[in-house]
Amino acid sequence: MPEPRRPLISGNWKMNLNHFEAIQAVQKLHWLLPKDVYETVDVSVHPPFTDIRSVQTVIQGDSMELILGAQHCHHDDSGAFTGEISPAFLAKLDVKMVIVGHSERRQIFGEDDATVNVKLRAILKHSMTPILCVGETLAEREAGETEIRVLSQLSAGLDGVKAEQAASMVIAYEPVWAIGTGHTATAADAQAVCSAIRSAIAARFDAATAAAIRIQYGGSVKAGTTEELMACADVDGALVGGASLDPDEFAQIIRLAASS
Ligand code: 13P
Repeated sequence: MPEPRRPLISGNWKMNLNHFEAIQAVQKLHWLLPKDVYETVDVSVHPPFTDIRSVQTVIQGDSMELILGAQHCHHDDSGAFTGEISPAFLAKLDVKMVIVGHSERRQIFGEDDATVNVKLRAILKHSMTPILCVGETLAEREAGETEIRVLSQLSAGLDGVKAEQAASMVIAYEPVWAIGTGHTATAADAQAVCSAIRSAIAARFDAATAAAIRIQYGGSVKAGTTEELMACADVDGALVGGASLDPDEFAQIIRLAASS
């Protein structure tokens, strides 16, 4: 029997909270969460780059079980890439998980599937876990192209990735129309797409890899929608934006996931 997948709740703070605010948010979150919550759920926080060193110090100084994450990185280790951040620098700060291919990076900053793939492989090269985001726009959804879009992003993102690497990865299904809009996919819709993702992983690699990989749902997740999402067989957690900025709400989402 394969190990049951541990739920992973991730807070993507996007471009919010300066390093003072980030320290406060992490301390409050830690204080709100009972110690035993980490027995059944993994929790990652993804602050802006300028906060990472401060948050790392707090997490390590207080022996918190929170996982430190980042939102983005460049694919090269160093070089003439003004304004970019190396995955090697993130690894040095004990960053364990990096979001890649977020729809905001794809849409606002022009990242295409090939760029997402080189970044993902760079993250793996530095022994960090990529959280690969995939998701359809409203127009694609209305045209009935949700699965085609999501599975093509998945396939391109995984180019050159081996089964044993994929098994430890995280895929985040984030329908673009649900991000920051207050519109959440129904649990049935989220389950259908996450199940299609898992089947595609099984077809590309094998059943064991599909059983091991974690698939999150993201898009306007709140405490009120967490239980029904977590009850879905193929939803292993959530990538939370706005609601993760409020430690009370985020802690509630984590507690609900821990008891799901
Ligand atoms: P919201 O939870 O604010 O919709 O953001 C979701 C998201 O983009 C997380 O990466």
